[in-house]
Amino acid sequence: MEETDEIFNSWFDSRTEFNSELLHQICHLIHVMENREPANPEMKLDQVTSDPRKPRILLAASGSVAAIKFANLCHCFCEWAEVKAVATKASLHFIDRPSLPKDVTLYTDEDEWSTWNKIGDGVLHIELRKWADIMVIAPLSANTLGKIAGGLCDNLLTCIVRAWDYSKPMFIAPAMNTFMWNNPFTERHLMVVDELGISLIPPVTKRLACGDYGNGAMAEPSLIFSTVRLFFETLVRSSAGNS
Ligand SMILES: Cc1cc2nc3c(=O)[nH]c(=O)nc-3n(C[C@H](O)[C@H](O)[C@H](O)COP(=O)(O)O)c2cc1C
Repeated sequence: MEETDEIFNSWFDSRTEFNSELLHQICHLIHVMENREPANPEMKLDQVTSDPRKPRILLAASGSVAAIKFANLCHCFCEWAEVKAVATKASLHFIDRPSLPKDVTLYTDEDEWSTWNKIGDGVLHIELRKWADIMVIAPLSANTLGKIAGGLCDNLLTCIVRAWDYSKPMFIAPAMNTFMWNNPFTERHLMVVDELGISLIPPVTKRLACGDYGNGAMAEPSLIFSTVRLFFETLVRSSAGNS
């Protein structure tokens, strides 16, 4: 982990805000990824990371009010990565579609059905699952968290998660009211998704959209982006060092 520590140190030196909880999260993620056996031997992560093309990031939004920041999140990733986006029906109440980057396609449940007519046609959730190197669900609603933990798949987003190859990274950034966040279901569901290998970008404490003050607000888009990028680039370096 020495090389990894150096990368962290230089990265954090250049940050104005130091978040020790996040540092622990990233250390944990890298430790887990370095030691994890790929679930599917044909889809090894080092094959993905040694590829010279841009990383393919699938950004997904569910129906938390923090989805108003989804366009911002897409913009954060666009310079660095190829981005496709997925939105649940509820999240569309909060997403301002015209402010999404022009080159980002936003897929919804309607597309899942309109792109399939007959046997032999591609199935959108499988195509997106194959396309992506990394999936990031931000914001993650309490409802979608519960569905993922239970293995339910009744829309485009949850079908992708249910079909996911867990040798590829997946990040979740939950966002919900403090009452929901503190509810015992949250911890149960987070334990299940942690076992799957899904990485948590924790929510933060602040004044929430509903006016309450407490934990449950989504991490800032810039922080989500930095976490995913740092994680990916550390993996690339570590797989280059191993080869
Ligand atoms: C105005 C409004 C704001 C909401 N904000 C949140 C939220 O921040 N987090 C959350 O988990 N659910 C929130 N909900 C509830 C979800 O939208 C609801 O559970 C929905 O079914 C989620 O669907 P999805 O998980 O398929 O996107 C909100 C609902 C409304 C009407």
